Amino acid sequence: MLWIKALHIIFVTSWFAGLFYLPRLFVNHAMVTDAATAERLVLMEQKLFRFMLPLALLALAFGLILWLHYGISGNWMHPKLLLVAVLIGYHFYCGKLLNDFKHNKNKHSHVWYRWFNELPVLVLTLVVILVVVKPF
Ligand code: HEM
Repeated sequence: MLWIKALHIIFVTSWFAGLFYLPRLFVNHAMVTDAATAERLVLMEQKLFRFMLPLALLALAFGLILWLHYGISGNWMHPKLLLVAVLIGYHFYCGKLLNDFKHNKNKHSHVWYRWFNELPVLVLTLVVILVVVKPF
């Protein structure tokens, strides 16, 4: 079980590296004015986004094993699953924003992306408190 938990934490951390960095690239992208830099940023964003999907799936799979196979759960699991759903939504919304950048259809300012970038920080903080402190 401890190996599964270790793998869960490893893949959660790796997924979050992308969830923190991809919107940070969007902040830079929203400030760019020349086409060549914008094109390079799209390539970087696409590669990162593609890499994030298997990391997310592995993080979720090991979490599900801990919950459903080893039966680790509690009242804290309900809000955790809600936050995980928010995170999955955030992940795919990043994909939509990336697609907008790719087709020069970005509608948001760099300030908007700076705020958007804070959401995974909040989710991570809440989830870690839920699984470690277990206030419920
Ligand atoms: C389908 C999604 C997920 C499920 C079912 C799940 C389930 C679990 C379970 C059952 C544990 C063991 C808790 C314990 O030992 O007391 C755990 C540990 C942990 N989970 Fe998840 N998890 C999921 C996704 C996530 C996500 C997205 C994050 C980060 C935002 C996360 C962060 C953690 C952390 C940091 C631990 C280690 C807690 C500790 O060792 O005390 N999990 N998870």
